[in-house]
Amino acid sequence: MATAYPPETETTSTAPAAPQPWYIRFHLAQRIEHFLLILSFTTLALTGLPQKFPLSPISRGFVDLVGGVENLRIIHRAAATLFLLEAIYHVVYIAYILYVRRAKPSMLPTMTDVRNAFEAIRYNLGLSNKKPEMPRYNFTEKMEYWAVVWGLVIMAITGFMMWNPIMTTRFLPGVVVPAAKAAHGGEAILAVLAIIIWHFYHVHIRHFNKSMFTGKISRTLMEEEHALELKEIETGKTPPPPSPEEYRRRMRVFVPIAAVMSILMLVLVGCFVTGENTAVAPTDAVPPAQETPAPAETEPVATEPAATEPAAELPEDLTWAANVGQIFQDRCALCHGSSGGYSVETYADAMTEVTPGDPDGSLALRIGSSPSHPGTFDADEVELIRAWIENGAPEE
Ligand code: HEC
Repeated sequence: MATAYPPETETTSTAPAAPQPWYIRFHLAQRIEHFLLILSFTTLALTGLPQKFPLSPISRGFVDLVGGVENLRIIHRAAATLFLLEAIYHVVYIAYILYVRRAKPSMLPTMTDVRNAFEAIRYNLGLSNKKPEMPRYNFTEKMEYWAVVWGLVIMAITGFMMWNPIMTTRFLPGVVVPAAKAAHGGEAILAVLAIIIWHFYHVHIRHFNKSMFTGKISRTLMEEEHALELKEIETGKTPPPPSPEEYRRRMRVFVPIAAVMSILMLVLVGCFVTGENTAVAPTDAVPPAQETPAPAETEPVATEPAATEPAAELPEDLTWAANVGQIFQDRCALCHGSSGGYSVETYADAMTEVTPGDPDGSLALRIGSSPSHPGTFDADEVELIRAWIENGAPEE
């Protein structure tokens, strides 16, 4: 074996390794993983940011490019699913190298990293001429790794809430849905900027580190960024691999547990993905979500046509200013405020989904009277708004 690198690979002897110009840094599987991460992350950013900034001309151009906002959302969700599957694979892989291979948990932050960070700052400011000797994953890499883990957790939780608003609001107050939306967008900007500023600077601008693509790292770069690890390799201090019997024994424990855990995690992702499609198909007259057939049947009154109610009961002065606006505020503003997407803040905003004279063609009424939507008008309000739209939806 040419190198003892990385620690989870086989070493045939503990004898000191001779200096060489290149060291293996990433296996093919790790490089494929990184490629999947680039693919899902970039797609998520490209299809997510136009939803956060829907009015920008760049967003509009991009939405047109993919053939509409519905397509944009479907692509976003496909990329999110890929990201989640990648995360499951990663968890299983980490469990494998820690339990079966008994590799050092080289991504865990330690006090040495804090010291290295201070040493690096001092060195960069010219206050010291000693570069920190850093391990296999140095502090800049660990920070990035944990930022991805943290970002994934935040994005998965808040993404779930927006993807499954009905399921979410069954357990939590309605206000968590717009809160999730704000957190999802904020974390997205943080993540994109972290990649562009932190990752691109350290890996591509400071020097072009190609090890994630070629799998190899030069000795010079090893000395500069992973001097401690280089020392361990060259003094033969990397841990030996398990013996074949030991390996088989550990695999007998690992494989069944990993299989069960993977299936559980995949089922969870399945729930995530197929739970509801309220948000992805807002114009499809909003079919009731699979889990909630009951409300759809018990509240048909909300979707009944105006004919059953005599118009005489309606107030005479039917305008946005007099009464309709207030109903929109009470029923919809919680989630449809000024933070992006459909807004009911002003008459003009609300009218983007109202077609005067055509109640059935007005999405605000159709969605607002669909029992599967997280916020709805009650039966009387539906009548009132229907009549208002038929009268041409006047403002005053
Ligand atoms: C508890 C939160 C909540 C409330 C309250 C709520 N909605 Fe929604 N609404 C949503 C979510 C979530 C979506 C999906 C939007 C998305 O995917 O960005 C949505 C989508 C819509 C859409 C499709 C346009 C768009 O931006 O996607 C319309 C129209 C709409 N709602 C109308 C209403 C009306 C009218 C009311 C008041 C009766 C209302 N909503 C109340 C959460 C809510």
